[in-house]
Amino acid sequence: MYDLRSDTVTKPSKIVLESALNAELGDDEYIEDPTVNSLEEECANLLGFEKGLFVTSGLMGNQISLLIHNDPGTEVITPHDSHIKNYEHGAAAFLSRVQFRDAEHVDGELNLNYVKKLILKSKVHKPVIKTVSIENTHLASGGSIVAFDSIKSLSKIVREHDLKLHIDGARIWHAIEEDKNNMNYGDYCDSLTFCFSKALGAPIGSMLLGSEGFIREAREFRKKLGGGMRQVGVIASMARTALQSREIILEDHAKAQKVYDFLNENLDCKKIESVVYKGTNMIFLNIKSDENPNKLLDLFYKNSIKAGLIGEKSIRLVFHKDILNNAIDEISSLLIHSSSEF
Ligand SMILES: Cc1ncc(COP(=O)(O)O)c(C=O)c1O
Repeated sequence: MYDLRSDTVTKPSKIVLESALNAELGDDEYIEDPTVNSLEEECANLLGFEKGLFVTSGLMGNQISLLIHNDPGTEVITPHDSHIKNYEHGAAAFLSRVQFRDAEHVDGELNLNYVKKLILKSKVHKPVIKTVSIENTHLASGGSIVAFDSIKSLSKIVREHDLKLHIDGARIWHAIEEDKNNMNYGDYCDSLTFCFSKALGAPIGSMLLGSEGFIREAREFRKKLGGGMRQVGVIASMARTALQSREIILEDHAKAQKVYDFLNENLDCKKIESVVYKGTNMIFLNIKSDENPNKLLDLFYKNSIKAGLIGEKSIRLVFHKDILNNAIDEISSLLIHSSSEF
């Protein structure tokens, strides 16, 4: 069975697992775990922030950021289809009690004039806007890379209006591996979270980055949320080893590109409206509005491919390190075969 549902299904490799055995450990609640401390420092340095905090998940990093940047009853501007708004189990309503204001976007890049308009409207009847949150890569657009220049322009507007900019960079390394010149996110945003447990292949963990003051507060919120941990070097060492081999992400992009090219040439299915590839590790098959995508998912499953739905009509195929290069031709044929029966 080829599992293309997500890059979260990746299993830790032997070297990742072995790194846990040799990790130097301490009590991280006392900030005395040397492996965690050095991972936090390394990640902060890599992306141009003052400090880092190892958290259990991307959700925890995103939600701690909102808890710090916002007060209850204030607003967060974000793409209507962002993860932080739609796929975090209502955590923002539950924890920071904020509401989201949808921003127009193309492939995760916000329409800056629209953002300015939203900010200026934030008077009398509208809640105060405190934060803008974007996603890089942007999942719902097919894993699209948000151009660094557009982040710089957004940052300028956010700063002019004294707001905060958060980046949900669950898959930030997909953007960075394609464009290593632009890694200094700390110069342009107030907080960023990224995940070790997706394409990088670590079993657990995410990194939250920000200023020294932000991370001091974030440590308190992490504790309140039950995320204070002890000898965390065991998992931080695996995260670090996984991060060291981050260039494998480019192989995932090449696998997705190859399957996309094959589908483009060979797919002949009237019920599939479009096949979308945005240059990273995902392909979306957009199913026509009057067709049932679950039927195609069942056919994929029957033909040894697990895939999932994003929204109501998009089937997502995600390529990752546990899908080997030598399986790509077979996967391409299985996708075509399944679609011919749809
Ligand atoms: C874009 C994005 N942000 C945040 C998350 C949350 O990460 P986690 O599952 O580690 O909480 C995910 C998870 O898939 C994601 O895709």
